[in-house]
Amino acid sequence: MKKIGIVVGSLRNASFSRMVANYLKVVLDKDYIVSLISVDNLPLYNEDIDHKDNAPTEYKEFRKLIKEQEAFIFVTPEYNRGIPGALKNAIDVASRPYGESVWNNKKAAIISQSPGSIGGFGAATQLRPVLAVLNMPVMPTPEVYLSSIYLAFDKTGNLVDDKVKKILNDFIEAYKKFLD
Ligand code: FNR
Repeated sequence: MKKIGIVVGSLRNASFSRMVANYLKVVLDKDYIVSLISVDNLPLYNEDIDHKDNAPTEYKEFRKLIKEQEAFIFVTPEYNRGIPGALKNAIDVASRPYGESVWNNKKAAIISQSPGSIGGFGAATQLRPVLAVLNMPVMPTPEVYLSSIYLAFDKTGNLVDDKVKKILNDFIEAYKKFLD
């Protein structure tokens, strides 16, 4: 079975991005080996501390985890019309050392979410060219920008909105075809 990493762009305990990721994982678990990937706990990327034989343990462990995956889904909030710094940092960490990026040539898809009305469109739109430059083929459609996200889940994080469920199920079907 193919290994898929779902990268969660938020560090928050009660993160809606993680709730979306949890739903995706439950559905995808039937056909893939799915890991939820956190972007916390990584020192800010700094070439000065990234020595070939002596990189920070957190960098090494994160790169190993990313290397093990064969494809990705990024689920992210929008911070000031862009992606959260922690997510960008994690992407940068696993893209180095130069020429050894563990993202290279792995397929990806993007979902953004927001309590607001435009569903994190700015974050998803910013993430796309970042993944492209890392040589990651990104699923073109369906684009998924989930707005008013707080209405989609109950207090225990269960997805209770049938429209959102359909959007995510359609996304999953397209993603499976994209991976074939
Ligand atoms: C936000 N939020 C936000 N929302 C949005 O739709 N557009 C935006 O530009 C921003 N900017 C922004 C900046 C910062 C620094 C924070 C902390 C938050 C709100 C954000 O979408 C909301 O907190 C989400 O619920 C965060 O996602 P998680 O943590 O629930 O996954």
